[in-house]
Amino acid sequence: MSPDEPHYLLGHTESELRRLDIQGDLYRDITRGAFERAGIEAGMRVLDIGCGTGDVSLVAARLVGPDGYVLGIDRGEGALAVARAKALAADMPWAEFERHEVADFERTSSFDALVGRFVLMHQSDAAAVLAKAARSVRPGGVVVMIESYMELLRTGGHSHPHSPLYDRIVRFKSEVVSGAGADLHAGGRLRSTFGAAGLPSPECRLETRLEGGAASPYYAYVAESIRSMLPEAARTDVRGFTAADVPGLEDRLRSEVTAIDGVLVVWPAVIATVRL
Ligand SMILES: C[S@@+](CC[C@H](N)C(=O)[O-])C[C@H]1O[C@@H](n2cnc3c(N)ncnc32)[C@H](O)[C@@H]1O
Repeated sequence: MSPDEPHYLLGHTESELRRLDIQGDLYRDITRGAFERAGIEAGMRVLDIGCGTGDVSLVAARLVGPDGYVLGIDRGEGALAVARAKALAADMPWAEFERHEVADFERTSSFDALVGRFVLMHQSDAAAVLAKAARSVRPGGVVVMIESYMELLRTGGHSHPHSPLYDRIVRFKSEVVSGAGADLHAGGRLRSTFGAAGLPSPECRLETRLEGGAASPYYAYVAESIRSMLPEAARTDVRGFTAADVPGLEDRLRSEVTAIDGVLVVWPAVIATVRL
């Protein structure tokens, strides 16, 4: 991060960029399904806010094809560089990436669709950010926001049979995320966030995956999440994991889950969709 870059809870270290890559794999089908249902198709112009390493933008880019256009915006130059490299490797030059604060970006009515994933949860005023971004969408265009509903795992079932290690991880992650000011209820709140942003009432659905078995990438994702969170945990004095825990964490979680032939509930996502 450059010194003038506003704080983002997880930063953009190499470990965090790797975590975003695995996250992309875990949520790609959910994201593509949401965009297809919303009618995102060939030739459309799509704006992706908080694009990170570009996974969401590239899902949209595949759907809109070479006659369409996708612009991913993010405040993090490191993430944008990865996103540009991915678009190049995927041979999709119609996906472009620019550095902007979402709240400072406006191109009135120039997009057919606004999309974003796991970005409103990091805003102190999510409705204001969404309202501003939606001004860039033409009348009749669509808005699709995908937000995590972390609170469901903290207060409900997160594994079957119960995984004590995952329980510790869920509690730690929830505490760090909320301690940093992010919203554990962002998904559950999406309907009211749309309303407060002056948008029509969205269709909302909840989706997730159940991960188990030795080959799941989820154990690595979780371990990288914990690694990315350690600086923030130290800053806000959240205890539970230290740097010494991280190297073996992926294998310990895999062993615990496979030994009980269990499944872990991946952080659930709420998809809110509306046509303007
Ligand atoms: C959890 S990541 C999600 C990345 C991507 N949407 C995905 O699902 O893989 C959140 C991203 O939003 C960016 N971000 C958060 N708030 C932002 C803001 N107000 N303006 C621009 N970027 C923002 C962060 O830099 C980070 O890359």
